[in-house]
Amino acid sequence: MEINGVSRIKGVVRVPPDKSISHRALLLSSVASAPSEVQNLLESDDVKRSLNLLKACGTKFEGSFRKLIIKPQPFNEPIKPIFCGNSGTTARISLGLLASQNGFFTLYGDKSLSRRPMLRVVKPLKEMGARISGRDNDSLLPISIRGGSLRGITYSSSVASAQVKGAILLASLFASGKTIYSEPYKSRDHTERMLKTMGALIAERNNEIEIKPSEKLTPLRISVPGDISSAAFFITLGAIHKNADLTIVNVGLNPTRTGLLRVLKRMGANIEVSVETQDPEPQGKIRVSSSHLRGTIILPEEIPQMIDELPLVALLGIFAEGKTIVRGARELRYKESDRISSTVRELRKMGADIVELEDGFIVQGRGRLNPAKVNAHGDHRIAMLLSIASLCLREEESTSIRGEQWIKISFPNFFKIIKEITSN
Ligand code: S3P
Repeated sequence: MEINGVSRIKGVVRVPPDKSISHRALLLSSVASAPSEVQNLLESDDVKRSLNLLKACGTKFEGSFRKLIIKPQPFNEPIKPIFCGNSGTTARISLGLLASQNGFFTLYGDKSLSRRPMLRVVKPLKEMGARISGRDNDSLLPISIRGGSLRGITYSSSVASAQVKGAILLASLFASGKTIYSEPYKSRDHTERMLKTMGALIAERNNEIEIKPSEKLTPLRISVPGDISSAAFFITLGAIHKNADLTIVNVGLNPTRTGLLRVLKRMGANIEVSVETQDPEPQGKIRVSSSHLRGTIILPEEIPQMIDELPLVALLGIFAEGKTIVRGARELRYKESDRISSTVRELRKMGADIVELEDGFIVQGRGRLNPAKVNAHGDHRIAMLLSIASLCLREEESTSIRGEQWIKISFPNFFKIIKEITSN
């Protein structure tokens, strides 16, 4: 796909529903005590993987992604392995869910998901008594699991990962005895919030969660807010483009997801955030316009709360004065692509002064980019990063991007929105 620079960015943007909340709404509703009603689910490839996984196990659905009724059923054994596609959230959280359900289940993924680490979920689940085996000493998909009775554990995860946390919390619901789970820094807390609204016995102190078994979850009634990680591409564009003014509406503003907004304020961006509603997930509006940015250093504790936005920090750094440094972000290497290497390689092709580190990168601001031929590395977020970067070229310049089709993993109407805000 060819993308040209544009002279003006203006408008109101409504981003698609949150991917993390959509997955969890489906997976948690499948074990509620009665049918749930979820409005505004994200209709993207990744979320369809979670839906299909549940269908394969017998959960019944009525309606559409706009308004879906999820009717829990006792899990049955699928006759075939279940395909999780590109979706790490589907694979990891549902391993926790399936560990407690009677039956034999096998999960597999696409090329990217098959190289992503699963031991971080498999290890604690085995401690809980789950019987799991998989490729490469149980660390990679395909993975088979024979669900059954589990026991609660005290577990301190070495990674701050909401997917690992989600898996263990789901497994804990059906274990005997309580589970105490802690993580080095707080990762997104959608699972905890949703479990609380469903009546689960869950208490939190700092980065530690205590959960008691609760087999009778009340059904969910929620409407999914817009995805801040999708909004982040337009927020960044609004801040770095020379002639921009964007308002993003109905977007989720959960503090465990808004690290990028805090960083943008520190960098001096013209950004106003207003929270309009709070429960169960805060949501509101963000207005952002062309900004004079200064470089910044991202702190380790900020990383989990902006993990998917870190490639965008590289782009912000290019348009900021001075240096921007991201360290302690090795986790980026285990995403849909190795996001440290793909970000650095592709932005460098566009002229960025950026150095790859083992656990991050250092960018020196230069205020502009060059046209180039770039590659998304099979990663939806890298494809969107490069598209946004291209819009900041001069009008007569363009970038040719390979792999833009991956964007439908999380943001099916991405280019439609670009069209709208560039023709105002
Ligand atoms: C997600 C958590 C994050 C994030 C991913 C979605 C989730 O991963 O990168 O896109 O829905 O739980 P980790 O928290 O595992 O790093």
